Amino acid sequence: MSIDQTLTDQERLAELDLDQLRQLVGLVEYDAEADPFPVTGWDAVVWAVGNATQAALYYQHVYGMELVAYSGPETGNRDHHAYVLRSGAVRFVLKGGVDPASPLHDHHRRHGDGIVDIALEVPDVDRCIAHARAQGATVVEEPHDVTDEHGTVRVAAIATYGETRHSLVDRSRYTGPYLPGYVARSSGYVKPAGEPKRLFQALDHVVGNVELGRMDEWVQFYNRVMGFTNMAEFVGDDIATDYSALMSKVVASGNHRVKFPLNEPAVAKKRSQIDEYLDFYAGPGAQHLALATNDIVRTVDVLRSKGVQFLSTPDSYYTDPALRARIGEVRVPIEELQSRGILVDRDEDGYLLQIFTKPIGDRPTVFFELIERHGSLGFGKGNFQALFEAIEREQARRGNF
Ligand SMILES: [Fe+2]
Repeated sequence: MSIDQTLTDQERLAELDLDQLRQLVGLVEYDAEADPFPVTGWDAVVWAVGNATQAALYYQHVYGMELVAYSGPETGNRDHHAYVLRSGAVRFVLKGGVDPASPLHDHHRRHGDGIVDIALEVPDVDRCIAHARAQGATVVEEPHDVTDEHGTVRVAAIATYGETRHSLVDRSRYTGPYLPGYVARSSGYVKPAGEPKRLFQALDHVVGNVELGRMDEWVQFYNRVMGFTNMAEFVGDDIATDYSALMSKVVASGNHRVKFPLNEPAVAKKRSQIDEYLDFYAGPGAQHLALATNDIVRTVDVLRSKGVQFLSTPDSYYTDPALRARIGEVRVPIEELQSRGILVDRDEDGYLLQIFTKPIGDRPTVFFELIERHGSLGFGKGNFQALFEAIEREQARRGNF
């Protein structure tokens, strides 16, 4: 299977071609013949939220997503509302309980707004499940067909970290808007004139925060169960442990279409951001989604104008000569990046621009990253070091280091 066979219907619908996708998310060629668990791409990110009806409006108004499908009491689903939103090839499904006895309320009580399912599109659900089971995965939903007038979807699910699951979906025999049980739905929302058609085009990676001391176990889970390979990027305790206090490794599907960085807290002087996540999410879960854009400057400007808050970057990050040398030439003047707090990382393959939002809900848990790749296949590792060193230099200047 070459890369051109890995476009999902969703990607074709978004009019993404392969070169765009390759640039957006950094694809590589690989030998699919030897892959025990072939993955076509992302299917959907499914959220359990406290109020899906309002969240659906938020993602339309703020993140420029488009409502495309719906399930709820009017369609025979008395348990919950579910809104399917799309931006380019990215599909979010927002679920919120209607019935007071809905398990979604329990999930929300424990975790707050969060990601319950990182669903992947696969060409052969049964083959994947057979392999996953043989490798010791917990099958939480056996392979089965779901059918309506638009055709048949074959679906199954395996458990991953925390209460998160991976649904495996084969929609090659289906033409409906999402899944049987959902109806096509658009909203009356009209984008303000002059706003870009979409603010992001594809999903680049989904990061999981796992328990202290268990990162390698989860890396091996993805190696063994899903045939994912380890990418070079590795954040170890050699990097700024006092501040970052995390260890991170990245696993990816054969062609890198699906990438999962996995973090665990590292023991340090201060409580790390990963510890904080684990406390407030009440266990492991998805920490951030990286949304790929081909114009991060424009996207950040629009999101800021709608009130989205981003992590700030010290001016020293941009003015330090060592950092300037590291950043080199990029497509946007450094001043443009500095005024927006956009970070740059560079490796032997190229560079990337990235920025992180503050947590999107009430708990300090889930957030978004925006990423614009120019050849780099990394995740911004250089920014860990650079940011923390910049902070230290500022501290030193104030005489506090
Ligand atoms: Fe990231």
